[in-house]
Amino acid sequence: MIKEIKARNLNCEKFIAEKTAEIKEMVGDGLAINALSGGVDSSTVTMLGHKALGKKLRTVFIDNGIMREGEPQQVVAFFKKLGVKVEVIDARKEFFAALKGLTDPEEKREAITQTFYKKVFGRLVKESGARYLLQGTILTDVDETVAGIKRQHNVFAQLGIDPKATFGYHILEPLIQLRKDGVRKLGKALGLPAALFQRIPFPGPALAARVIGEATPERIETVRKATVIVEKLLQDRKAFQYMAILHEDRVTGMRDGKRDFGLQIELRCWDSIDARTAKPTRLPYPLLEKLAGEILRKVPGVVSVTYNIATKPPSTIEAI
Ligand code: XMP
Repeated sequence: MIKEIKARNLNCEKFIAEKTAEIKEMVGDGLAINALSGGVDSSTVTMLGHKALGKKLRTVFIDNGIMREGEPQQVVAFFKKLGVKVEVIDARKEFFAALKGLTDPEEKREAITQTFYKKVFGRLVKESGARYLLQGTILTDVDETVAGIKRQHNVFAQLGIDPKATFGYHILEPLIQLRKDGVRKLGKALGLPAALFQRIPFPGPALAARVIGEATPERIETVRKATVIVEKLLQDRKAFQYMAILHEDRVTGMRDGKRDFGLQIELRCWDSIDARTAKPTRLPYPLLEKLAGEILRKVPGVVSVTYNIATKPPSTIEAI
């Protein structure tokens, strides 16, 4: 039974002192490794790990090719300012090879998970000689695993490492007593910029969750370009989450006086507290027109832009 620490009871200074001492003690002269995605949990655990281990922690950012515009470079730059070196691993080809031909949402998710754990990160862990894995698991992840919402969270099996056959691997999960609000508080205390600890949620399957049908490099690029516009124009509205989705169907449009059987982008902007239920934000019409205008001008091939007005449930926040 894991003892929860509520955000309001979290004494960051004391927590940081205790956890860094524990991590130091565990790792000793060994090497630890962690994968940073730039999300709140992995960013916070990276800071905590570096405080404890310095150069004995190797932090990698796996570029899967389905992140938002400039995301790998931004994350590296943020951490550089904080004195933490992050290695970018270019795995774009491997992820797109795994996604090739897949149209079913669950198959796409599975391909991304398998490529991340079994192929790319699993290989790095084994090659690095590290015996300690630092993970930003939080209490909500444990609850969801127990409730059967998330797939069983056995990290070594996911990495393709059999802990029985290969002794000596250890997982460090220093955030496991916290929930998201506690992690944000801790991240702030560890010096993370607000741009990192207050980010809007972004799904693990990244932009592949925002492409209906096959996630090819070209289709990801289309949704990436639309995402830049959506995030820029909606960032100040205090919405819970906002996104662009590329549809699979095409519709007739016209461009330069010619018929163009073009692409459709759907926009979603949600008001929500905890993502369990959500309502579309009542965006002002002039802002919707601005969004549509900019997407039609700047995203090649798009001839249709729609705004979702359905609630969750029965909709979900993401489209796949
Ligand atoms: P849905 O689409 O289920 O999303 O209403 C609820 C919240 O969870 C995020 N989400 C995901 N996060 N992997 C993730 O890490 C996923 O596969 C995934 N699917 C949805 C979504 O962005 C929203 O905040």
